[in-house]
Amino acid sequence: MASYTRIMVLLQLFFLSTSSTLIDFYSTNHANSAPLQGWLQRIRNGQISVDGTITTDPNALLRDGSQLVYHRQPWTEPDVPYLLKILYEDEDMIALDKPSGLQVLPGGLFQQRTVLTQLQWWASKQSSSSVHQVPPPVPVHRLGRGTSGILLCAKTKVAKTRLAAYFADGTSKVLNKRDINKGIDLNRKISKVYRALVTGIIQEDEVVIEQPIGMIQYPGVAKGLYVASPAGKPALSKVIVLERDVKGNCTFVQIQSGRPHQIRIHLATIGHPLLGDPLYVSGGQPKCLDSDPVDDNFAQDGGYPRPMKPLPGDCGYRLHAHQLVLLHPATNEVIEITAPIPSTLQTPQERQCKTAHTS
Ligand SMILES: *[C@@H]1O[C@H](CO)[C@@H](O)[C@H](O)[C@H]1NC(C)=O
Repeated sequence: MASYTRIMVLLQLFFLSTSSTLIDFYSTNHANSAPLQGWLQRIRNGQISVDGTITTDPNALLRDGSQLVYHRQPWTEPDVPYLLKILYEDEDMIALDKPSGLQVLPGGLFQQRTVLTQLQWWASKQSSSSVHQVPPPVPVHRLGRGTSGILLCAKTKVAKTRLAAYFADGTSKVLNKRDINKGIDLNRKISKVYRALVTGIIQEDEVVIEQPIGMIQYPGVAKGLYVASPAGKPALSKVIVLERDVKGNCTFVQIQSGRPHQIRIHLATIGHPLLGDPLYVSGGQPKCLDSDPVDDNFAQDGGYPRPMKPLPGDCGYRLHAHQLVLLHPATNEVIEITAPIPSTLQTPQERQCKTAHTS
């Protein structure tokens, strides 16, 4: 397929209920999009209209019910892989096989090229061939941009509430050691198994990692960055070694976990960061903590500049959400969903078996 460039203009509508000044409104309510200086620049550029009139005075007073439109400047989104395979579907939920590189929700440079946009297309296509309006399915858990594999989405409100609660439960609770050693957790209604490729050779066949995960301030990540931290919340992962590639100095593992970035942080903590991870290094900390120059390309339109250091959404690390076992949100049946292992994460033995079968 030929690569192409798409230009987009985003209009945002806001209906106010409290009065304030224009700059107050944007710098308070939309600080994630740009810092104060960025919003001043956007207002002075004439990118914001109030009740249909372009307003360049940041201190213009807004009245109750003012209608604001922010004309985002055209921007170009980087190319991303976009093929989403359906792994499982019924009336309540749908599970997709997400490629590495495709972001789930809009954010940063990716506003249109996301899984969410594709789900909206999918729903509008279904709606056109049905008498009812079909609402787009909603992702019920996170999956990092660089992570591939199963993404579970709810099709109904009830399924969304239940599944979101299962995931929240599974990630807040720490398995007790006895259950994790048996490989089961009776408290969880959901269990996710990942395949990962880590640097170096893990000598033990099984490793249980207990390392609290906390948050630090980090440029370019508004909410903060998750890192290994003694003051953080407890987290436990179980790693099973599948195959050691001594020549390649890397180990293929299976791992179960819950909290955001837990797998990347935990494997880095034990000295085996994911192969290709641009962010987390041995010890479970980000590669560079000192401040360094920022990349102005990211700051198009007055937004936050992108730091020249790695961000959690940067790809390259080898992690795949391989298997999901859950109680069905409507029927309580046990459902097992599997996303095939991508070739970059197949063990040498798996690759050999495949060749043997196809020849
Ligand atoms: C193998 O990888 C580990 C972890 O990244 C590293 O410390 C070690 O130096 C590597 N060994 C060789 C022989 O390259």
